[in-house]
Amino acid sequence: MDGVDAVLADLSTAVPRLVAQASLPMPAKLKREFLSLNDVGSNELTRASLAANELVRLYAQACEHLLARSGMKATQITAIGAHGQTVRHDPANGYTLQLNAPALLAELTRIAVIADFRTRDVAAGGQGAPLVPGFHAAAFHCGHPRAVLNLGGIANITLLRPGHDVRGFDTGPANVLLDLWSQRHSGQPYDSQGRWAASGKPIPRLLDALVHNEPWFLLPPPKSTGRDLFNEKWLNERLEPFTPLQPKANDVQATLQSLTVTTIAKALHDWAPETEDVLVCGGGTQNTSLMRELADALPCPVAATSDAGIPTQMVEALAFAWLAWAHEHGHAAGLPSVTGARHPTLLGCKYPA
Ligand SMILES: Nc1ncnc2c1ncn2[C@@H]1O[C@H](COP(=O)(O)OP(=O)(O)O)[C@@H](O)[C@H]1O
Ligand SMILES: [Mg+2]
Repeated sequence: MDGVDAVLADLSTAVPRLVAQASLPMPAKLKREFLSLNDVGSNELTRASLAANELVRLYAQACEHLLARSGMKATQITAIGAHGQTVRHDPANGYTLQLNAPALLAELTRIAVIADFRTRDVAAGGQGAPLVPGFHAAAFHCGHPRAVLNLGGIANITLLRPGHDVRGFDTGPANVLLDLWSQRHSGQPYDSQGRWAASGKPIPRLLDALVHNEPWFLLPPPKSTGRDLFNEKWLNERLEPFTPLQPKANDVQATLQSLTVTTIAKALHDWAPETEDVLVCGGGTQNTSLMRELADALPCPVAATSDAGIPTQMVEALAFAWLAWAHEHGHAAGLPSVTGARHPTLLGCKYPA
């Protein structure tokens, strides 16, 4: 919810080539509306439709930047892969919902749009998430067991092992709780470079309570999660018993950072102890303190995806360009080994130019 990341990619070669990139911040008002739409509220249908249209106007603007920066014309672009904004994710009950307006995006850009990437996998009994492991496998496979870790609002991990099916799952919160706590205490949308967390010390008993009072962490993969679970209510309920102890706010921030790191380290330890290196992407890579704690906690080298040729902030956008490419080529990118679906599925739905 921090912004729109867009890439123009050439996928005609074995290794995807980044042609241009653009990022637009999410206007504060729209971000507030999406946050509010994540929860039960009044007049949700109208508000969701209007917010989706507004989001897509940002998408169209990002596409204009990409065309201007690359010197290309709309008619030269095969398709736009547009994910939309997730406001509900509950695959156990058979649904996941991304607000999007693909017809409007096709109308504004005159480029074909491929959208709605998650629902077919959910319909086939899968988690509908994470969807990026197929792309991670294409872009980052190597001769040894490797993990690719995305630190967005939620953390998801892809496990690559030569000769084996790709696996992947969400590990829990990456930045979502750090952002919430930072906003509450400093008014800042995030703890820049984790400086505030670094000024505090994790509270062991609180960390223990956060990790052990959440059954979701104990579930085996396939699994996925979102703000439906890890939100303000979740945090408040778990902090409540600690309020009499008056924990310092920066110590709580340090504890939340440790929660992110601990749950990632445990997932790797439990499900891929053979991992020889970890490549990290997503906004969390900008959080120096988080990255330092992660490198200390993991038993193998940790590097940014930029070291493997793709800027950390552009991996997700490139993954959705790749998913659009997969749709165009009839390539089933919904992977049962990741999502637990009954069979591979062709992801997305096309809105012609
Ligand atoms: N300079 C920074 N310092 C600390 N955290 C940052 C910084 N830049 C980005 N982030 C974190 O990255 C998040 C956005 O990451 P992103 O990969 O875009 O996630 P999502 O896919 O959920 O939008 C922000 O909410 C913030 O927590
Ligand atoms: Mg983002």
